[in-house]
Amino acid sequence: IYGAERKASSGPNILIESEWGPFAEQVNAYLNQCWQADPIIAGKTVAGTALHSDVRSPADRDNLVGQVTYASEGQVIEAIDAAERFLPTWQQTAVTERADALRRLADLLEAHLEEFVALCHQEAGKTIQDSIDEVREAVDFCRYYPARAEELFSEHLDLHRLDGGLAKWQRQGRGIFVCISPWNFPLAIFLGQVGAALVAGNCVIAKPAEQTSLIAARAIELMLEAGIPGGAIQFLPGDGATVGAALTADPRIAGVAFTGSTETAQRINRALSLRDGADAREPATLIAETGGQNAMIVDSTALPEQVVKDAVLSGFASAGQRCSALRVLCLQSDIAERIIELLKGAMAELRIGDPALPSTDIGPVIDESAQSGLLAHIERMKEYAKLLAQTPLPGKAKRGTFVPPTAVEIDRIDQIGREQFGPIIHVLRYEARHLDQLIDQINAAGYGLTLGIHSRNERTAAHIEARARIGNTYINRNQIGAVVGVQPFGGQGLSGTGPKAGGPHYLPRFTRLIPTNAQ
Ligand code: NAD
Ligand code: ALA
Repeated sequence: IYGAERKASSGPNILIESEWGPFAEQVNAYLNQCWQADPIIAGKTVAGTALHSDVRSPADRDNLVGQVTYASEGQVIEAIDAAERFLPTWQQTAVTERADALRRLADLLEAHLEEFVALCHQEAGKTIQDSIDEVREAVDFCRYYPARAEELFSEHLDLHRLDGGLAKWQRQGRGIFVCISPWNFPLAIFLGQVGAALVAGNCVIAKPAEQTSLIAARAIELMLEAGIPGGAIQFLPGDGATVGAALTADPRIAGVAFTGSTETAQRINRALSLRDGADAREPATLIAETGGQNAMIVDSTALPEQVVKDAVLSGFASAGQRCSALRVLCLQSDIAERIIELLKGAMAELRIGDPALPSTDIGPVIDESAQSGLLAHIERMKEYAKLLAQTPLPGKAKRGTFVPPTAVEIDRIDQIGREQFGPIIHVLRYEARHLDQLIDQINAAGYGLTLGIHSRNERTAAHIEARARIGNTYINRNQIGAVVGVQPFGGQGLSGTGPKAGGPHYLPRFTRLIPTNAQ
């Protein structure tokens, strides 16, 4: 599928060997490829619609990375038909067999590390370090969920009834699961959702984000190579409003695993309920992991240098394009000036630019639409907020979709509006006596994904943690990069439905209990 000559490029794409060592040579071998993504139904690549989308690198819009053809609405039906045909076989396949296939996928991902690093870097504009972390997290999901599935499916569910009889139950995949993923973790979240649904015994239809279909397509090819049957996994690249909406409207769908914006999750929820009210067989399960308006609360006992290090990493790493990223830095007024001075100094040191260079801290944002939305937000904020610091962009940044890391000071959280998915930190001062009102303001925004707390007073930290309605709280450290199997990740309120990805309670949502040989 891939390997065709690159059609246009503004210059050589190479990692600097002296800085990355032999790894650079292996990644470089993939950097000038042109990738292709097409729908894959029942294990076969099929021609999509005439609607082709050119994929260009966010770091350099002249750099053509590949092409995607979108699935047609007819192919949505074909994919669901194929999944439906294979479902009984897959549900009866032993969990160890499903788990082994996913573990083989993990091995293959490791064997193809350099290729996926090149792809994540080219298609998603990730720095090389972020790209390596992305592949590692995907591997972690592909090892963690098989282990949990084997435990889950071997649980003893027999119940002794009062009349001496035995009620026996077993787990089964729910049916056909649609997995809809975002572009900011194009491999890890994509495979986390798909892997969990598959190993739990569901047939899956995967719809990747429009911006990162090439990475997803290559992952699907490896899945088939790992021995996951073509009937179990269908791949439908396409845009949300047509392919995504057609999938979630189908009455045969048993569940949707969605990660993306809160607004899209609400749209999917409405689509599922309309469908359920019509001819659906049963209400569909919706697992939605969505956005955040994440705060870090810093009291006067905090260590300023540590706060700034953690705030800069939490707010600006991955160009702020993490759902967990810091958006509102809340500083107790007694310590605010000192921290703001340090923050300005740290932001002046940030290096923005070519994500291939090991020295780069911050690469581009995903595309023009994200860039213009974020720049417009910064302009809007200037009307009533104070610009504290902005790291200048280098000249070369004009070739890509870059946004300067920015810190502005606001008076109230509701001045921010909806989630701003980029490198912008909003600073808010508060008085110690108003701490509870601050936490109430954070809760009132309705989101509940991550919260950072910096305090050396354990009672204060415990009080904040108890009052805030949050999915993941981080104390005296940064608030990004939850580790699979160690920090189950997911929010509440507008940030998600649970059940926390990468944790022990995730897989049961993809299963149902059915009676067996009840006496
Ligand atoms: P998005 O909501 O724009 O798109 C996500 C996916 O939904 C894409 O595949 C898109 O094609 C699809 N989609 C769009 N409209 C649809 C519809 N009507 N029906 C079905 N599918 C539809 O989000 P995005 O811009 O790709 O990702 C960024 C967002 O994801 C941010 O809000 C971020 O906070 C969130 N996110 C959350 C988590 C988490 O774990 N909570 C993790 C990563 C990203
Ligand atoms: N799991 C990712 C993080 O914690 C989203 O940053």
